[in-house]
Amino acid sequence: MGRVKVGVLISGRGSNLEALMTACKADDYPAEIVLVISNVEGARGLGLAERNHILTRTIPHKDFSDRAAFDEALDVALNEADVEIVCLAGFMRLLGREFLDGWQDRVLNIHPSLLPAFPGLDTHRKVLDAGVKISGCTVHFVRPELDDGPIVVQAAVSVIANDTPETLAERVLEMEHKCYPLALRLLALGKIHIKGKMVTLKDGSPGAGFLNPGGLTEPN
Ligand code: GRF
Repeated sequence: MGRVKVGVLISGRGSNLEALMTACKADDYPAEIVLVISNVEGARGLGLAERNHILTRTIPHKDFSDRAAFDEALDVALNEADVEIVCLAGFMRLLGREFLDGWQDRVLNIHPSLLPAFPGLDTHRKVLDAGVKISGCTVHFVRPELDDGPIVVQAAVSVIANDTPETLAERVLEMEHKCYPLALRLLALGKIHIKGKMVTLKDGSPGAGFLNPGGLTEPN
């Protein structure tokens, strides 16, 4: 069976893109990245994709009169490349309902907290200000509301004394790079069942949640 074609949308550094590209190099990985789109010219992730011989496009949102027109340009580019699943990886734009309706349950995002706690920007600062002892990351399906949507994979990370937003971000990012390839694998294999907000795997087990980095393996 052929691999599922994936388009990755980025705005910057692209470390999650890199983790997905690395995963895709495995012979038994069920997906391949066929297109990387950035809304920011010169984003670091574009260079990473080019070095991996992946087609890249820059579609600056500021070139469009409104969000619908920008979304439409993304949609056209993704369809031209025969993309089947879209992964948002540090993509700093909201996608509209019309776009998402066309990609129903085929758009994933990664967020650096245990959603629904701490949606939005400046996540690690908010986590530290709130004094919580456990944070983490979440891969979820995208809905029109910010950082909303059924959760596929989560991993927990301890907040430790003297953490700064930067030190916490670094440990959470390490988990992001494990969670995103796993979530994409589950979706590409068609193992995911969504009912309302709840993701279960087709074998009836709950999605994938991990309480420690050592526990991060694909559920049976
Ligand atoms: C990650 O922390 C991700 O969770 C958030 O934006 C950051 C993107 O980092 N949505 P990178 O571009 O993948 O390195």
